[in-house]
Amino acid sequence: MKNTTAWWLRITVAFFLVIVLMEIYIDSGDKPAFIAYPTLMFGFMTLILLLLIAIAFIVQAIENVLYNTLDDEAKVRYLAEKEKKWEWTWGKKMYAKMLGSKPIESEEEIILDHNYDGIRELDNNLPPWWVYLFYASIVFGVVYLARFHVFNDYDQDLEYEQEVAAAQLEIEAYKKTAKDLVDASTVELLTDAADLNAGKGIFESNCVACHMADGGGGIGPNLTDNHWILGGGIKNVFNTISEGGRDGKGMIAWKQNLKPAEIAQVASYVISFQGTTPANPKAPEGDIWEDPNAPVENSKDEVVAPEVAIDSAAVTMN
Ligand code: HEC
Repeated sequence: MKNTTAWWLRITVAFFLVIVLMEIYIDSGDKPAFIAYPTLMFGFMTLILLLLIAIAFIVQAIENVLYNTLDDEAKVRYLAEKEKKWEWTWGKKMYAKMLGSKPIESEEEIILDHNYDGIRELDNNLPPWWVYLFYASIVFGVVYLARFHVFNDYDQDLEYEQEVAAAQLEIEAYKKTAKDLVDASTVELLTDAADLNAGKGIFESNCVACHMADGGGGIGPNLTDNHWILGGGIKNVFNTISEGGRDGKGMIAWKQNLKPAEIAQVASYVISFQGTTPANPKAPEGDIWEDPNAPVENSKDEVVAPEVAIDSAAVTMN
């Protein structure tokens, strides 16, 4: 048997190979398997290590037993064979071939006859590795030219647009999971029944004492008309609920008790009162709010045109 690699090197390589394979095949979400299941993985890897060491010992033992069964002549041959150093012949040959240089002994064959003060020149071939790379770049160039200039496959503009559209979708998806990131400047009117229901729940447990269940108003102003003391529209309403009303009026800053996502829900619910008729409406207070984004022709009869929520389905991938 040839003396290949040292036993400890084989064990180390096999050990890390097992680790890599486990990382590839164990589904541990975004985390590496070792962080997701530390004790399990540690125990398992210790077992593997012991196993590998045991295998190395067994192989060694078998080799010893076999060696002792050999006659003296064979023992000598065996040891001589073991002494031989392992060589990667194919790799060495390939390396020499790719270099394509003449061995120093035969340099005479390629020396040019001019001679400048004793400085002479060798007529070496271009190294094959370089020549092959050059051919490969020509093939690449032809394919590239045909693909992008003759058949007009995608260009940078299109690539950019696709990436922006994909990122837009990702942002939408992210916003759905991170709803508490909203504030008064980024909040959008929520129209989902689930959000409005949640808003209704929050309204009923916190706000009815002063605004009435139907928004008609009491201590607080009427929320169903198009008059707003502190400004209408989802952004102003969000801001009012979050920061509270004017000092001494009784409307506290709800950001102490409600999360941003909850404020967005209750604000959207408050806006859904627009145009409804409460049982005991309080007289309008404040100014008529006109949505700056509303279409012009609607502005005199349309109260608060709900701001358009971004429709993720309308963002197209091209
Ligand atoms: C203690 C009574 C009270 C409670 C409870 C209360 N509000 Fe108010 N709210 C008021 C008063 C008073 C005002 C008027 C503030 C002002 O004039 O500055 C007001 C104003 C508002 C406004 C602005 C109306 C406008 O015309 O600009 C909104 C929106 C609002 N409240 C929503 C809510 C929501 C949502 C809740 C529950 C989370 C709530 N309020 C709880 C008393 C209350």
